[in-house]
Amino acid sequence: MTCGAMGSFYVMKALVFYWLLMVGGVNGIGANWGTQASHPLPPNTVVQMLKDDGITQVKLFDAEEGTMNALTNSGIEVMVGIPNDMLAMLATSTKAAEQWVSENASSYVNDGVNIRYVAVGNEPFLKTFNESFLYTTLPALQNIQGALTNAGLSSRVKVTVPLNADVYQSASDRPSDGDFRSDIHDLMLNITQFLSDNGAPFTVNIYPFISLYDNPNFPVDYAFFDGTSSPVVDGSTTYTNMFDANFDTLIWTLKKYGFGNLPVIVGEIGWPTDGDMNANLQFAQKFNQGFMNHISTGQGTPMRPGPINAYLFSLIDEDEKSIQPGNFERHWGLYTFDGLPKYQLNLGTSNGGLVRAKNVRYLDKKWCVFKPSASLDDANVAPSVSYACENADCTSLGYKTSCGNLEARGNISYAFNSYYQINDQNDVACGFNNLATITNVDPSTSTCKFEIMIETDSGFSWRSSLVTDKGILLVVYFSFLSFMFLIISF
Ligand SMILES: *[C@@H]1O[C@H](CO)[C@@H](O)[C@H](O)[C@H]1NC(C)=O
Ligand SMILES: *[C@@H]1O[C@H](CO)[C@@H](O)[C@H](O)[C@H]1NC(C)=O
Ligand SMILES: *[C@@H]1O[C@H](CO)[C@@H](O)[C@H](O)[C@H]1NC(C)=O
Ligand SMILES: *[C@@H]1O[C@H](CO)[C@@H](O)[C@H](O)[C@H]1NC(C)=O
Repeated sequence: MTCGAMGSFYVMKALVFYWLLMVGGVNGIGANWGTQASHPLPPNTVVQMLKDDGITQVKLFDAEEGTMNALTNSGIEVMVGIPNDMLAMLATSTKAAEQWVSENASSYVNDGVNIRYVAVGNEPFLKTFNESFLYTTLPALQNIQGALTNAGLSSRVKVTVPLNADVYQSASDRPSDGDFRSDIHDLMLNITQFLSDNGAPFTVNIYPFISLYDNPNFPVDYAFFDGTSSPVVDGSTTYTNMFDANFDTLIWTLKKYGFGNLPVIVGEIGWPTDGDMNANLQFAQKFNQGFMNHISTGQGTPMRPGPINAYLFSLIDEDEKSIQPGNFERHWGLYTFDGLPKYQLNLGTSNGGLVRAKNVRYLDKKWCVFKPSASLDDANVAPSVSYACENADCTSLGYKTSCGNLEARGNISYAFNSYYQINDQNDVACGFNNLATITNVDPSTSTCKFEIMIETDSGFSWRSSLVTDKGILLVVYFSFLSFMFLIISF
């Protein structure tokens, strides 16, 4: 054997070794799992999806029992959430904090849920919250930390506060001029100090999509990762994508106050697929794949070289999210509500792509549509459509959205069908003053899907039905009457 052959053998071995490092050694990718949906997939199905996709970390917005139980012994790292409306109570009562930790952390850890973080609040300093959580977030954080310590969990479970990237800014747009937002400057310093003292990470949500949505002059290519005609030059560093610049604005801010090494987690990052002219499959694929490729190199950002710990936003669409921020809110998922991947996405994990949910059970193949014989001039059309849209989901109807090209009758049908499906195809929910009818012919077009809902665990969604349908209230009322009648006749 010649020296040359020996040499290339070792080179080969080294290459294989580095390849294994690349494949198995990337920090792992996380996903946000929210449940504000009328027809959520069963938690066990979702956990299987996470496993199939090789997603190793999940971020929750609460601690729902079904979700937590499904994560038992999955090995998946969990960031469990505390909703903002609990902050006031947790801030004022150490007892409440102890109870929260006992019920929602200790017991699940003992059962084998791999809880690693507690997210105290969710973007509590957003301007839209009107300072509601300004005085409760830090005390709640302190009380939860205290309770974790008392429970003996403080070395394995870290606290954090997922914050919107608007808690810091740069007047010049250059990352090196970064600082905390002036109205919460001292509060942010105290929170950062507290996180640092407790070995806890700073969590930030970064959204180039929102920058584009809020500012029509925002350079579109700067939102993505393929280079830009409008780079930001900061000293010797040139930023060609908004993510790096935004992330580094935070790093500069932290550094300015002596926290340059504080761990940072990207709590949410993603791109929606519908509900706005810039929310579509092509842009979402381009952004998320660009981001995955960007972090898979492990190079990090100019100011923070190394692996980036991030949670994609989000795993699955949620049709009951508030649309106050915009119609796109219900379309952030990598998957549609029923667990179908929306586009190809290579997460850099062993299997390469997104795997569809298994054993999903759909309702019958039928749709509620505007009656062919009904007239567009009928005075009941407008109020019926408004009613359907208020109580169901019409966020795919609008300028340059997936169903934006329907003609008037299609629009009406879309609204009626959404309401009918959300109410589990109950006949009563396809009335609309006799303007609607049920059909077996799929009204979908090439871009616009008329959904069929999935079966939910409870079989029938009383919760949403009760608040959305007067007809069903009557059904409940009459069932109650006949029940009473039965009791009386016995
Ligand atoms: C535990 O979490 C659930 C879900 O977020 C919440 O409803 C419940 O109040 C929490 N328990 C305590 C004791 O705070
Ligand atoms: C915030 O304050 C503004 C102005 O006072 C008000 O119009 C808005 O409804 C408030 N929003 C919330 C969420 O309280
Ligand atoms: C920050 O902490 C200091 C020292 O404990 C305290 O005096 C100050 O009031 C705090 N400020 C805010 C806004 O929390
Ligand atoms: C369909 O509905 C959308 C959203 O409500 C509206 O903007 C559009 O004008 C409607 N199109 C027609 C043809 O009525």
